[in-house]
Amino acid sequence: MSKEEESREVLPTKEYYNPKMGNYQEVYRRSIEEPDRFWQDQSKILDWFKGFDEVLDDSNPPFYRWFKGGKLNLSYNAVDRHVKMHRRNKAAYIWIAENGEEKIITYDGLYRRVNNFAKALLDMGMKKGDRVVIYLPMILEAPVALLACARIGVIFSFVFAGFGAGALADRIKDSGAKMVITSDGANRSGKVIDLKGIVDEALEQTSSVGTVVVVKRTGNSVNMEEGRDIWWHDVVKDGQAYVDPEWMDSTDPLYILYTSGTTGKPKGVLHSTGGYGVWVASTLKWAFDPQEDDRWWCAADIGWVTGHSYIVFAPLILGLTSIMYEGAITYPAPDRMWEIIERYRVNILYTSPTAIRTLMRYGEKYPRMHDLSTLKTLGTVGEPINPSAWKWYYENIGYSRCPIIDTYWQTETGGFAIAPSLNLGLPPLKPGSATFPMPGIEPTILTDSGKEVKPNEKGFIVYNRPWPGMFMTLYNDPERFKSVYFEKFKGKYYCGDYAVKDSDGYYWLLGRADEVLNVSGHRLGTIEVEDALITSQEVAEAAVFGKPDEVKGEVIVAFVVVKESAADDRDIVPKLRKRIREDLGPVYVPEEIHIVKSLPKTRSGKIMRRVVKAVALGQVPGDISTLENSASVDEVKAAIEEFKKVAKN
Ligand code: WT7
Repeated sequence: MSKEEESREVLPTKEYYNPKMGNYQEVYRRSIEEPDRFWQDQSKILDWFKGFDEVLDDSNPPFYRWFKGGKLNLSYNAVDRHVKMHRRNKAAYIWIAENGEEKIITYDGLYRRVNNFAKALLDMGMKKGDRVVIYLPMILEAPVALLACARIGVIFSFVFAGFGAGALADRIKDSGAKMVITSDGANRSGKVIDLKGIVDEALEQTSSVGTVVVVKRTGNSVNMEEGRDIWWHDVVKDGQAYVDPEWMDSTDPLYILYTSGTTGKPKGVLHSTGGYGVWVASTLKWAFDPQEDDRWWCAADIGWVTGHSYIVFAPLILGLTSIMYEGAITYPAPDRMWEIIERYRVNILYTSPTAIRTLMRYGEKYPRMHDLSTLKTLGTVGEPINPSAWKWYYENIGYSRCPIIDTYWQTETGGFAIAPSLNLGLPPLKPGSATFPMPGIEPTILTDSGKEVKPNEKGFIVYNRPWPGMFMTLYNDPERFKSVYFEKFKGKYYCGDYAVKDSDGYYWLLGRADEVLNVSGHRLGTIEVEDALITSQEVAEAAVFGKPDEVKGEVIVAFVVVKESAADDRDIVPKLRKRIREDLGPVYVPEEIHIVKSLPKTRSGKIMRRVVKAVALGQVPGDISTLENSASVDEVKAAIEEFKKVAKN
């Protein structure tokens, strides 16, 4: 048995596991064999203003269109329909600030806020099809803004508040946004981050934005530009507005969410209304089986797809009560998450392997300080979870009574693609495996030449057929949509990940197969970092790659050749860090920056990132016959040795 296989152990079957997996097999079979009937039934998870004419229009692959002709509105599904029934006074969100302040907002309260802000958007001239960039921290105005846009058909593009001015400007430009919604600041680990200042800087580089709406959150002083910037509280007043929800076509876009690819330019993943809504609500129900009175905590940031789908749309469509937490999970102390679970009697916790590994480092002492007995189910997302973190989570947080729902998916898939299904029938769990596909997802694992691999062999995971939550295209770039995702394996969706299927049919996701990094569950592009470095005055060449890290999954490492003019600059490394922080944001700042005299290149002058990485990580660099300057390899080695020495002292 290989080491990898050895770790694929099956957990002892507990009473909540159904060895036959309940209805899962049958439901899955129907989703594949009778997809039209299956999705026709499943679409009833939403209220439609008008039924659709066709479940799936696949006449123009890969531009698949779901529930064509159907009319609906997701803000209506998330809010209005609950207000008309027993959920009117139910909590939609229990919001907790980093300083412990709490706000509870009912479905009725959310309904009023969404209507008031939708009215404000209309009054400011926004109309169906316009784009708005949202750059907000984890405050209640964030879901309100998303739903208000959805209500009137404005396409929103949320930019994670940890991104810098350059990244924000790129997204504003690409989406052609007319408006930015932001706040004066964000609270993080006891500090205030000046979000409005970053917006001001980004707007110097763009020209499409006419209005900036600013939420007062931290009270720090900000510059308000006359005629452009306006306070949120001034536009909503304390109105009693009602705005008719726009009858959106199922295939009208809901949002653009930018994600990193293998070039410097982020990809604008464009999601639909009907297919996306059906998918996120169905997958949340299947995988986690949340009950009416459960308290659901998706501890992600709203700025990533996890937050869009499982803090906002899915839980609201299902009428659940969500916990929403504003701050850092280790602030003021590493028991913050466990304290929230105890105080708010959380039933389901959905978080990332990085968060688990971070908290695991502080030891069992912190979870033991709190009563975690309300927890029924745990979940993870964002990166492969290593069996030891899985077990720690299972034993020390779930006390070996809560199944762990490891959800594998992507920005592009809209919602879970592979995950155990508590609602349909849970399989015996294997720590580190996301187990089986959701209904409608038909994965295959292929070799580079497109042949199916044998069980236990590693390959590229592809999906053989479209599913309702799949993105419609890349915004303004249908050619890139086709070439990135559907060309490597003709007609199949290639997602960029390696996987293995074991002899029991379980899927094991093994990380990215392309030059994309996964740092703490955040998808970042190596080339974006290289571009930020190269465009700074001091840098001539750069090679950036990911290095495995016990807590974050991967950390960023950069090898940089500086220009002559900067050769004697002793502060070059902190300068470069600062530049990346300001341009791309703190999540992009490399853990290590090494200055070298040259980088390994091919004869045609292309930097061989693969070789730099292999040498730096002490691996065999593979084929270097096309290498032009072999001395550079020794330089990389020497830089690493030097770094290790310095790190030791
Ligand atoms: C990439 C997608 C899904 C929302 C958050 C990230 C990796 C994600 C898992 C998992 C193994 C995972 C993949 C994927 N990934 N979840 N449970 N097990 N790998 O969304 O930024 O679009 O990143 O994250 O590599 O392709 P994203």
